[in-house]
Amino acid sequence: MAFYYTEPSRTFSEFLLLPNLTTKDCTPANVTLRTPITKFKKGEEAAISLNIPFSSAVMQSVSDDGMAVALARCGGISFIFGSQTTANQAAMVRKVKGYKAGFVVSRSNLTPDNTLKDVLALKEQTGHSTVAVTDDGTANGRLLGIVTSRDYRMSRDAMDKKVSDFMTPFSKLIYGNSGITLSEANDLIWEHKLNCLPIVDADQNLEYLVFRKDYEAHKEYPYELLDGNKSYLVGAGINTKDYKERVPALVEAGVDVLVIDSSDGYSEWQSETVQYVKANFDVKIGAGNVVDREGFLYLVEAGADFIKVGIGGGSICITREQKGIGRGQASALIEVAAARDEYFEKTGVYVPICSDGGIVHDYHITLALAMGADFVMMGRYFARFDESPTRKLKVGSNFVKEFWGEGSNRARNWQRYDTGGKSGLLFEEGVDSYVPYAGSLRENLDKTIGKIKSTLCNCGAKSIEELQRTARITLVSATSLVEGGAHDVILKESSLSED
Ligand code: IMP
Repeated sequence: MAFYYTEPSRTFSEFLLLPNLTTKDCTPANVTLRTPITKFKKGEEAAISLNIPFSSAVMQSVSDDGMAVALARCGGISFIFGSQTTANQAAMVRKVKGYKAGFVVSRSNLTPDNTLKDVLALKEQTGHSTVAVTDDGTANGRLLGIVTSRDYRMSRDAMDKKVSDFMTPFSKLIYGNSGITLSEANDLIWEHKLNCLPIVDADQNLEYLVFRKDYEAHKEYPYELLDGNKSYLVGAGINTKDYKERVPALVEAGVDVLVIDSSDGYSEWQSETVQYVKANFDVKIGAGNVVDREGFLYLVEAGADFIKVGIGGGSICITREQKGIGRGQASALIEVAAARDEYFEKTGVYVPICSDGGIVHDYHITLALAMGADFVMMGRYFARFDESPTRKLKVGSNFVKEFWGEGSNRARNWQRYDTGGKSGLLFEEGVDSYVPYAGSLRENLDKTIGKIKSTLCNCGAKSIEELQRTARITLVSATSLVEGGAHDVILKESSLSED
């Protein structure tokens, strides 16, 4: 006979936190959200911790190198999507590891033979007023000069005037040499009152541009997630099919942490993959997704460094409808967290868990942390921002961003859903959709983090670990859900009430 759970499976929206005593020192400024993401022994430090408990989903429409840089800059980590060729994924990892904060590869470039008309057209297209002039018009060609809006007068100069006639030639440029640090570059910028400093190699090839405004912006990222070489940390998703080819390439590219991306991680395929990676590489690897104690313990025994929790709760997910498997995200998390704590008690090894999918409101993140998650993974949340890799469109009078599931026809990531047998996607487990465009990652994260820290203060906790130990959580009845929103009033418009 089948086993029946007596309790229904629950979602985040069915729970609330109760406040604990807030002591005077428990202010948002004193709250830290630093959190471990790889297993560690009691009394030791995790090899990898995040400065904010956020990771972006292993999805084509969410996590490319651009998102990875933007999120690491704010203290979280992206797992670059694996539903692309190994070479492309490794190239994205390499870009993140090679990214030097404050050093940008020039995106507006022309040759000396171009004209003022070309400069204006490029400016219109990119919005950049600084144009690098290189021998072949590429970002890394031999630098011959720079054009800024100070070099021409639109009212006087002829449109067919050649760039070589009005650019500031290399002989008159102040430049930095390859290998210069950001603060040395900044000293040159200040000393010579520049807006932009080109960095060139020994053969005068252009490497980067350093802008005065970027240096100032850089200083405003106090939570940056950097490795010992001052490169951003980055993760990548792998699957249980081509890992023998994919993992070596990702490790070679410098990936910091891997995760097996699968809708159902409680499988011998995953155990084999974890064991292979552990036996052959010195790289951290998470596994999942699971929704219960059995799945958690199985993957921990295989050697996983963290475990991802959640089946069927993702915003674009139709797994529960298509196959009837899954579990309410809160119930899954509560059971796995209990298994994790028990495992820690017994072995002295703490295995972080990640709550993946189904976060709709910011308070769901705080609830997930209180229920035992060490960090969360989100798709929809990040897909809404400028930094996600998808198109921004206008639908009706609203701006939206595209967002599609890995199990949709558009992504066709069959490896994520594979249970052995024939390759390919037989039916969809995800949809192709739009999400409301929400602006920049940084601004939205600041707001979300502000809310989380404020809630921790209400709960009398100055860290995630303290919240997990002391939180008091209550179930809410269906009728009290109504009481939780604005009710029995006629609403006026207020942007402050938005999530
Ligand atoms: P969200 O934060 O609610 O949008 O959920 C994102 C999570 O949904 C991802 O991290 C994956 O675990 C999961 N996911 C991604 N694509 C699909 C899909 O096509 N079907 C089901 N789940 C998906």
